[in-house]
Amino acid sequence: MPRHLVTGGAGFIGSCYVLQARHKNVSIVNLDKLTYAGNLENLSSLADDPEHIFVRGSIGNAELVMYLLETYQPDAVVNFAAESHVDRSIKDPNEFVTTNVLGTCTLLNAVKDWWLKRPAAQKVAFRFLHVSTDEVFGALKPDDPPFSETTPYSPNSPYSASKAGSDHLVRSFSETYGLPVLISNCSNNYGPRQFPEKLIPLTILNALERKLLPIYGKGDNIRDWLHVEDHCSALDCILESGNVGESYCVGGRSERTNLEVVQVICGILDEVAPSAAGPYSDLIRYVADRPGHDFRYAIDCSKIESKTFWKPEHSFESGLRETISWYLCNQSWVQHVRSGEYHTWITTNYAQRNKEDHA
Ligand code: NAD
Ligand code: DAU
Repeated sequence: MPRHLVTGGAGFIGSCYVLQARHKNVSIVNLDKLTYAGNLENLSSLADDPEHIFVRGSIGNAELVMYLLETYQPDAVVNFAAESHVDRSIKDPNEFVTTNVLGTCTLLNAVKDWWLKRPAAQKVAFRFLHVSTDEVFGALKPDDPPFSETTPYSPNSPYSASKAGSDHLVRSFSETYGLPVLISNCSNNYGPRQFPEKLIPLTILNALERKLLPIYGKGDNIRDWLHVEDHCSALDCILESGNVGESYCVGGRSERTNLEVVQVICGILDEVAPSAAGPYSDLIRYVADRPGHDFRYAIDCSKIESKTFWKPEHSFESGLRETISWYLCNQSWVQHVRSGEYHTWITTNYAQRNKEDHA
């Protein structure tokens, strides 16, 4: 049975990857620090699964990483561990450098030291897959061609700069030490279990509580949305047939303005959870913009499609419907994640913006 060391596997995308991997009988060692974004409830269906070994700890702990590598001898390391929210990186960039840059470097170094001592056949078969983002490429204008593997890096937020730094480190470990690395640069994910600081779950949950739906700036910024399960299947394809040392862009070819996304959510909620207080779109409010807000992301995913035969299975509209339904059916998950730390963040992020309401 293949075995993967997954880092950040209790977060939104990492937990989806772990669940899919266990479905395909891949054994998982899951190293997660359990920050505010890590949640073992995401993995509750694996509670009695002996092939899912959960370890609470940091990718920045070299001794722990080395112990896990020596004990479990994984065939691949898949690195999801990161601070992932742009607005938090604007309020406190340091944590992003600590985890995303220094943490990734510590992880890479431990993996490299362990990998160098493997027998030749294991060395050749081993893979280090680094899960990165399209935000490293910066921002597109309305008519620019989409990002591709050859787009120069031009990160604009502390988050994307820290992810760009981690990507460069990963590439350097391939060039310098020959570590067999792969990098994915994916667009915006949505789906079940996403922490409700991000646009889609925040909108769904605020709407259901008849709270205001904050839209930064004019709502005309564009994102390319991909269902989290399609992202995880792309990662599998990259691991299986990606060329060592190369990067792969992953996206949904589903560009939408933020206003469109929020309006579609409101429309679906009007159907499935109608409110006597009126249409959910009445709750939309334009608030102060995100500083350095990237205008548009879009991905040309022809490389992964032609090299690996990967194709997304979810359309944005049906995936969004399923996602809304998941949040409606998982109220205890929602209540648990919206605990003390969540309230502190919402107050910090939105109190000032609401005072600057642009409506
Ligand atoms: P998330 O914030 O939901 O989860 C991050 C996970 O990493 C959490 O479980 C957290 O506890 C863990 N973690 C944080 N610091 C750690 C450390 N030092 N050691 C071990 N674990 C640590 O993030 P996500 O949305 O699931 O994103 C996962 C990865 O995918 C990130 O690297 C992110 O940059 C990348 N990515 C995200 C998206 C997206 O739309 N969410 C798109 C493309 C790429
Ligand atoms: O593109 C991939 C990236 O997508 C990932 O690397 C990040 O980890 C992930 O968080 C996501 O980044 P975004 O900044 O695009 O996602 P977010 O959900 O925070 O915001 C999506 C868009 O919605 C963005 O243009 C900002 C806007 N927005 C967001 C929030 C939270 C609002 O208008 N109002 C809000 O309250």
